[in-house]
Amino acid sequence: MKQRVLTGIKPTGRIHLGNYVGAIKPALKLAESEEFQASYFIADYHGMTKVQDAEEMRNLTRGIAAAWLALGLDPEKVTFYRQSDVPEIFELTWILSCVTPKGLMNRAHAYKAMTDGNKGAGQEVDHGVNMGVYTYPVLMASDILLFQADKVPVGKDQLQHIEIARDIAGYFNKQYGGTFKLPEHFIQEQSAVVPGLDGRKMSKSYNNTIPLFEEPAKLKKLINKIKTDSSLPTDPKDHDQSVIFALYREFASQEEVSVMKDRFRDGISWGEAKAELFHAINGKMTGPRERYMELMGSPEKMEAILARGAQRARETTAPFLTEIKKKIGIL
Ligand code: ADP
Ligand code: TRP
Repeated sequence: MKQRVLTGIKPTGRIHLGNYVGAIKPALKLAESEEFQASYFIADYHGMTKVQDAEEMRNLTRGIAAAWLALGLDPEKVTFYRQSDVPEIFELTWILSCVTPKGLMNRAHAYKAMTDGNKGAGQEVDHGVNMGVYTYPVLMASDILLFQADKVPVGKDQLQHIEIARDIAGYFNKQYGGTFKLPEHFIQEQSAVVPGLDGRKMSKSYNNTIPLFEEPAKLKKLINKIKTDSSLPTDPKDHDQSVIFALYREFASQEEVSVMKDRFRDGISWGEAKAELFHAINGKMTGPRERYMELMGSPEKMEAILARGAQRARETTAPFLTEIKKKIGIL
């Protein structure tokens, strides 16, 4: 039997290089393999913890769908859907909430970061925290467990959420007997955290991103903004310490990467290194960018693909939820 692989991206911003390298690229590679059956989705209800404007939600959701498809997701092979189109996920969320100790949520990173920030700022502890943020990990556990996922490709920041999903599966299994498979994370060690323009983790929260489908002139400008040190053009440079190299490696071929290593060692100016990075990204993204623009112009096409995906997903989630409800005595 094929292993199941599953991942979701929430529509809270435009897809950036970090999302692509850390989540989408490895996920698409897994989906191509005959060993795996992939389910990939847009975590729109997770996005609602942050995005609370209808038009913005609609546009960002379309953007994520178009990005996956433009980058090569084959909806015939991959079950590709919108989380909100699979109601079983939300029913299971409640069921899982009832076996999840509240203390587990208190320790979740995203919630803790917000409450620590409030404490530091002398605010009330839960200032600005909605219940969606607080119970976010339970919904994510439901996403994963309902599909019996074996592997979950995500960036390193999501590791704790996968561990929480395993814990919750364990609590349920202990109470009601073996039901859920324990999922494993699938993290690309080499590219676990893609640095942003300022050298910190690339993230929309830090405003340091390079959007993946940026048009060439803007892409060039953004790449030129990447922070570098003041070494002279001819100085030998350590490629392992360079954000430019870290990004280049993700878009260039193996041979190009080894040539670039030599050029760093022999001395390459930052300007030249940035120009090479621009060519590598632009070269790889020209085709996907065109497909992305085309898809954004025909949302009906994407709607049809997502509707079919949700239908396919529910062929397995609905009977599994029935099984779960029997176990808890609701059916
Ligand atoms: P952001 O940090 O910009 O808000 P998300 O939290 O929406 O991004 O992340 C979507 C997916 O992309 C997740 O699997 C996450 O781990 C991955 N990801 C985001 N930023 C990076 C990064 N800089 N490097 C590697 N993976 C990342
Ligand atoms: N929490 C993930 C993120 O912020 C998105 C997500 C929601 C997810 N449900 C998931 C990822 C299930 C993997 C599996 O990036």
